[in-house]
Amino acid sequence: MEGDGIWRLKKLFHALIAVLTLLQCVNSSPALGSNNISSGGVMRCIEREREALLAIKQKLVDDYNVLSSWGREEHKQDCCKWVGVHCSNRNNHVTQLNLGWERLDQAYSLQQKGDPQEIKYYLQGMMSPKLIELQHLKYLDLSEINFHGGQLPDFVGNLSNLRHLDLSRASFGGRVPSQVGNLTHLQFLDLSYNAFANVENLNSWLPLLSSLTYLDLSYNNLRNVPDWLEIVNNHPKLTNLTLTGCGLSSPPIHSSTLFNMNSSKSLAHVDLSENQLTSPSIFLWLSNYNASLVHLDLSSNSLTGLIPQVLGNMSSLVYLSLSDNHLSGSIPNLTNFSSLKGLSLYENQLRGTIHESIGQMSNLEYMYLDMNALEGVVSESHFSNLSRLTSLYLSSNSLALSFNSNWVPPFQLDSIFLASCKMGPYFPKWLQTQNPSFLDLSNNKISGSISILCEAYKGLRLLNLSSNNLSGELPECLSHLGDLVILDLSYNAFSGRIPATVGSLYHMRSLNLRSNKFVGELPSSFKNCTNLRIIDVGDNKLSGHIPKWLGVSLQNLFTLVLSSNNFNGSMPPELCHLTNIQILDVSVNNISGTIPKCLSTLTVLAQKGNSSPTRQYQINDTLADMHQTLEFKNTLGFLTRIDFSSNRLTGAIPSEITDLVGLVSLNLSRNKLTSELPVEIGKLQSLVALDLSRNQINGRIPTSLAQIEGLDVLYLSYNNFIGEIPTTKLQSFDPSVYAGNPQLCGPPLQNMCGDEEEKNEPITWGFYVSMGLGFIVGFWGVFGSLIFVRPWRYSYFKFLNVLNDWFYVKVVLIKRHFS
Ligand SMILES: *[C@@H]1O[C@H](CO)[C@@H](O)[C@H](O)[C@H]1NC(C)=O
Ligand SMILES: *[C@@H]1O[C@H](CO)[C@@H](O)[C@H](O)[C@H]1NC(C)=O
Ligand SMILES: *[C@@H]1O[C@H](CO)[C@@H](O)[C@H](O)[C@H]1NC(C)=O
Ligand SMILES: *[C@@H]1O[C@H](CO)[C@@H](O)[C@H](O)[C@H]1NC(C)=O
Ligand SMILES: *[C@@H]1O[C@H](CO)[C@@H](O)[C@H](O)[C@H]1NC(C)=O
Ligand SMILES: *[C@@H]1O[C@H](CO)[C@@H](O)[C@H](O)[C@H]1NC(C)=O
Ligand SMILES: *[C@@H]1O[C@H](CO)[C@@H](O)[C@H](O)[C@H]1NC(C)=O
Ligand SMILES: *[C@@H]1O[C@H](CO)[C@@H](O)[C@H](O)[C@H]1NC(C)=O
Ligand SMILES: *[C@@H]1O[C@H](CO)[C@@H](O)[C@H](O)[C@H]1NC(C)=O
Ligand SMILES: *[C@@H]1O[C@H](CO)[C@@H](O)[C@H](O)[C@H]1NC(C)=O
Ligand SMILES: *[C@@H]1O[C@H](CO)[C@@H](O)[C@H](O)[C@H]1NC(C)=O
Ligand SMILES: *[C@@H]1O[C@H](CO)[C@@H](O)[C@H](O)[C@H]1NC(C)=O
Repeated sequence: MEGDGIWRLKKLFHALIAVLTLLQCVNSSPALGSNNISSGGVMRCIEREREALLAIKQKLVDDYNVLSSWGREEHKQDCCKWVGVHCSNRNNHVTQLNLGWERLDQAYSLQQKGDPQEIKYYLQGMMSPKLIELQHLKYLDLSEINFHGGQLPDFVGNLSNLRHLDLSRASFGGRVPSQVGNLTHLQFLDLSYNAFANVENLNSWLPLLSSLTYLDLSYNNLRNVPDWLEIVNNHPKLTNLTLTGCGLSSPPIHSSTLFNMNSSKSLAHVDLSENQLTSPSIFLWLSNYNASLVHLDLSSNSLTGLIPQVLGNMSSLVYLSLSDNHLSGSIPNLTNFSSLKGLSLYENQLRGTIHESIGQMSNLEYMYLDMNALEGVVSESHFSNLSRLTSLYLSSNSLALSFNSNWVPPFQLDSIFLASCKMGPYFPKWLQTQNPSFLDLSNNKISGSISILCEAYKGLRLLNLSSNNLSGELPECLSHLGDLVILDLSYNAFSGRIPATVGSLYHMRSLNLRSNKFVGELPSSFKNCTNLRIIDVGDNKLSGHIPKWLGVSLQNLFTLVLSSNNFNGSMPPELCHLTNIQILDVSVNNISGTIPKCLSTLTVLAQKGNSSPTRQYQINDTLADMHQTLEFKNTLGFLTRIDFSSNRLTGAIPSEITDLVGLVSLNLSRNKLTSELPVEIGKLQSLVALDLSRNQINGRIPTSLAQIEGLDVLYLSYNNFIGEIPTTKLQSFDPSVYAGNPQLCGPPLQNMCGDEEEKNEPITWGFYVSMGLGFIVGFWGVFGSLIFVRPWRYSYFKFLNVLNDWFYVKVVLIKRHFS
């Protein structure tokens, strides 16, 4: 999903080309001489090439019938009219073959057969050797055909007339044939997003492509190519260079390549994001292009130090992104960047004040300065000439926003992210002149009611007001926010009942009302919000039964947090219909009765997760028109948990729970559970944390528990377990894990087991000491730290801490630049 903004734009571009060529094809008059007349039309296709095309089709699986125009039937004779095929007007040879995604998408849409959103790829299969029959081919786009990791055939090198070759996202594997180097006329080459194993050999073919103007090798591993810049730089005509996520390291600072004679003089577009660039040498190289560079993206690298002065001379820059690096110092004087439209410096360590001269950059459309250490006051003079600004991100700095109360901004913002900007206690008046679809004012000091908001902003999609001093009941006008997708009012002092009108927010995906003072029941009108993925109403004063309709109507839920309320009654078996659930937390309530046996139907929990964050919940559909994507991600990817702790649950732990093999954390502590543990509890192989403490569970500890390799946090204290603690893994835990089970024996406990029967050993001192320790450390204390591990690097993701600490809603603004 990386680089999607650019990728989409690119697709659009190709689509445009495709449409243009199509039109050209339709309008063009046939050339004289070699025409064939068939079924009343003019037939231009050369038979040998038609046969080649049919052979190409034969090697492809066309599940969506996008190549239905390709065939042997009488009325299909003219291959020049086939989807994706373009013939020369001069000699009728096939010169273009465009089976790329955009072209096929278009063909598919014309058939009006359904939702292309569902389609991963239109075509799959193999590349036919007959391709080389198309010797006049200049343009070949096979992007996003699924070639199943197959080898890119050597004969590609025989298509010696190729100008344009796009094989991006085509699932090629194996090696890049060095024959590619024979394509000396190639101007456009895109091999990004494949699984090539040896792109490192690029020295054997890339330097031969002396006509290249466009090169994209993103997501190919160039880690072992220290002279990548030298190789890439040796293309005098190059204008667009994209090497995202290639593992690139900084070029040596004295490298002669930095000023190569043969290098391009007109680089306009350089994207080296998501690499391992550290030193400023890259800027030295870039300073060669101070007159031509339009688009520079060095985001998500490891650049340190100050933003270099040479940048100040790149007056041609329109888009600049240095976000997600370790750059320090202050924001440099940017007044020379008079053309700049996009400035993205978020997630660095920039300090100091923002100089008022930034307000002179009258072309600026977006300004992302969030997640730095900027300080000082931001006032209207910082925006005096920014009449084109649409996105303003200043969150998570030490800035204070202070505007004259009568200030009328020159801009009309669409996205406003001003979390932690010391705003309040009043809702800023200037904001009322704006009509954003995003709005994040979390972690400020705004107090009072929010009715002013829902009256002013009908078009809001995201509203994050968490961690303010807002109070009072939720206004009825909340229902006016019909486009709302994410609503976060957590950590405020809202009170009263949750109004039933919230149920009319049909588009809502995430609702977070955690840590307020809401009372009463969950309104049943929520039933209508069938798009809800996340509900967190923890830490309020809600009461009543856990509604049955949660399980019946909201089957998309993957997080349901009802903890720390006054819910009572029993656990409705309907909750078992929540087949997508990953986090189910009803802890600290008054729930009684037994744990439903049907739990094994929680499908997602019953699947072993892999350790990558596979489950993504994207909500492009409502936001697509803004070129913005909101994406939910479980940051640990594999963190799934059930927490029923601190309730009044009785009876046995149902053996069905052992079917939840994807479960990472299970907390049933502080209930009144009895009977023995399911013998097969060891089936829970994903389990990292298990807390069963403070129940009345009896019997032996099943030996299978010792077979859960990843089990790190275990509490069995204060139950009625008997007998010996199973070897050997379980013996390595702290004795406190087992405290308060007088009839347990064997290591790590002091009381030894008798040969035959369990003895009622007096409890030793050490026992009490360790018990206290376990008590203090506590289950969630330990687990909390595990939760903060950040195993995945989501560069360019801006995240809001919408839910619990371990659960982020990530706001992806299609790479947050250049959209
Ligand atoms: C014209 O059509 C005939 C019969 O379909 C075919 O044999 C011949 O090769 C075609 N000519 C050209 C120039 O494609
Ligand atoms: C590539 O070109 C070289 C010479 O320039 C030639 O020897 C070789 O056969 C060519 N390979 C292909 C696949 O065309
Ligand atoms: C590709 O070109 C090379 C050299 O021109 C030739 O030896 C080879 O046979 C050609 N391959 C095919 C499949 O025609
Ligand atoms: C520049 O290109 C010429 C011709 O391709 C080559 O001979 C020369 O070595 C190149 N110079 C550098 C510095 O790469
Ligand atoms: C090359 O880069 C320029 C400048 O960013 C851009 O306008 C142009 O669309 C790019 N070309 C292609 C084919 O993407
Ligand atoms: C910027 O350009 C000026 C000439 O316009 C030059 O004198 C100066 O050295 C350049 N500065 C840097 C840091 O490259
Ligand atoms: C702005 O550009 C001028 C002329 O190129 C140069 O002299 C000056 O140093 C630049 N200012 C900054 C702050 O880089
Ligand atoms: C680019 O840099 C060169 C060398 O420093 C300088 O001579 C030239 O004036 C600069 N161009 C611009 C537009 O700043
Ligand atoms: C920024 O640079 C411009 C042009 O070089 C200059 O006029 C202005 O005074 C500078 N501003 C600051 C705050 O240094
Ligand atoms: C900035 O705006 C003021 C009026 O608000 C205008 O006088 C001035 O010329 C503008 N400056 C630029 C650089 O656009
Ligand atoms: C919920 O939907 C039902 C019908 O599906 C409708 O009658 C009811 O008014 C809706 N409730 C709200 C609060 O929109
Ligand atoms: C959402 O967008 C991403 C990239 O922008 C894409 O990969 C994904 O398929 C889209 N999802 C839906 C449901 O449209």
